[in-house]
Amino acid sequence: MCGIVGYIGNKKAIPVLINGLSKLEYRGYDSAGVSVNENGVLKVIKCKGRLSCLEDRLEAEKLEGCMGIGHTRWATHGEPNDVNSHPHISQSGEIAVVHNGIIENYMQIKEFLAGQGYTFQSETDTEVIAHLVEYYYEGSLVDAVMKVIDEIEGSYALGVLCRDEQDMFVCARKDSPLIIGLGEGENFIASDIPAILEYTRNIYILEDKEVAILKRDSVQVFNSLGAPVKKEVFKVDWNVEAAEKGGFEHFMMKEMYEEPKVVRDTINPRIQNGELVLDSINITKEDIDKLDKIYIVACGTAYHAGVIGKYIIERLCRIPVEVDVASEFRYRDPLISERNMTIIISQSGETLDTLFALREARKGGSRILSIVNVVGSSIARDSDDVLYTWAGPEIAVASTKAYNTQLAALYLVALDLGLKKGTITKEQVNSILDEIKKIPSGIEEILKYKDGIQKFAHAHFNSKSIFFIGRSLDYALSMEGSLKLKEISYIHSEAYAGGELKHGTIALIEKGTLVVCPMTQDCLFEKMVSNIREVKARGAVVLAITQEKHREELEKTADMVLTIPDVDSLVAPISAVTPLQLFAYYMAIERGCDVDKPRNLAKSVTVE
Ligand code: F6R
Repeated sequence: MCGIVGYIGNKKAIPVLINGLSKLEYRGYDSAGVSVNENGVLKVIKCKGRLSCLEDRLEAEKLEGCMGIGHTRWATHGEPNDVNSHPHISQSGEIAVVHNGIIENYMQIKEFLAGQGYTFQSETDTEVIAHLVEYYYEGSLVDAVMKVIDEIEGSYALGVLCRDEQDMFVCARKDSPLIIGLGEGENFIASDIPAILEYTRNIYILEDKEVAILKRDSVQVFNSLGAPVKKEVFKVDWNVEAAEKGGFEHFMMKEMYEEPKVVRDTINPRIQNGELVLDSINITKEDIDKLDKIYIVACGTAYHAGVIGKYIIERLCRIPVEVDVASEFRYRDPLISERNMTIIISQSGETLDTLFALREARKGGSRILSIVNVVGSSIARDSDDVLYTWAGPEIAVASTKAYNTQLAALYLVALDLGLKKGTITKEQVNSILDEIKKIPSGIEEILKYKDGIQKFAHAHFNSKSIFFIGRSLDYALSMEGSLKLKEISYIHSEAYAGGELKHGTIALIEKGTLVVCPMTQDCLFEKMVSNIREVKARGAVVLAITQEKHREELEKTADMVLTIPDVDSLVAPISAVTPLQLFAYYMAIERGCDVDKPRNLAKSVTVE
């Protein structure tokens, strides 16, 4: 998704903007641009392509100003090209704007402005903001921006420069993330913390419809009525290295190597003196007894974690669970009542569909528990209870370590609810916790055999279509394995429930078709062996993933067996996903794909 950086201080703005934008590249983008105020002239340089293209242009045309805004664009309205790139400049060059989000009523505004004599250069929704700010500007930029945000509908994070205001700029947000970095004699705006972490650890998190004026020595924040807001300073407690590659070729590999640590970080603080302690969740036994249904709502990888959540919560708590993709949930008029709880899962805490699904659930009276990675994100702030996954910054677009921690967090929630409800005993909880504690060292073992996975990928990277089949928790795992493969290697892939394949899709299995089979569920092991026989009878090549104890037996049937250290079937998905992630990674590498920045994808999906 689009990335925004803004700067005012004593340094030249361009290097700070470019450096910040480079830290936001992970979000996905197709063009980039900057604008600085140079002695009362707004200079704009922007172009399609990578930041390096922008840097080449900046080489030719030196911009010296100490205040500026920068942007990486992920196209929504209008193709990626130089003209559609941000910043957008207003008719008379008075205003420059960068924007992340979608202005839903931009056509009406465009018509209105056209009637006022404004002409448009781009196909974007953003350009109307630049003209509209100019239209309202009567000497106070903040007043003009206030008027504009009163009129626009949709989502936005905005950085706005004005030609006539050389010692300040303005930013605002609604439903798209924006933070303010507080420096000494300099201040910043950014879509995400890594962009400014090199300069400051003190930030303000802007709330919806807040507007701020940034000067060198001050930041003033106002609510939508124009009243000053006293913000709390949020101190970032992780360091720059956490958002850098640290010797790994790709963020994705680095982040897989972090899985043992982040799973430990997510579970260890919640086990005190051998007892499960989720003190951020204030649900009592009475609250739980009242529940007649739990919804789990999320997108993409987080949704796949939710599918596992459904199985384990139903199994351990005996409460019906419906799991939904957020973009469907929010529009399907779900039957929500005060007897529901909705578990929202999100790494970024900013995914727009997930945020709006949360609001839909709340409107119906549901309690909201969120499992979120980014502290202080919109979803975390809108929830009744938050269980943070301590995965640290996840930079690779393809989610890896965050998924392992989402699963770990879901197990903790299921155990907490089940224990309070009385559907599981303390002894059961302790024995499951003992199994969960084995996971981090299990992942360490799995990472050691990555070369074997690379060899297998080398032999199969030309596959045209790959199937993932599994049963129960392994079916949920199959969905995640298949998504990972698709998104970074661009190989067509589908996930099927093992028993469902023969109801149609098995027609596609032919000689050499690769079928990947997670098989961590002991009680369904034999059923999966039968499924393997079915596909092998039609010529499939089978890659199976199972516990070490099943290796010998499975080697008789599958072509390649990857094992995870023995662990109870219930918790096995937390480590069994790692070989699937490694498989996707090496398939992508073998095919020469840019694993950290796959095509068409964005890290934090802040538009619908
Ligand atoms: C896939 C991936 C996406 C995200 C999805 C939700 O690797 O990263 O599918 O899982 O966009 O994002 P969050 O968890 O930030 O809400």
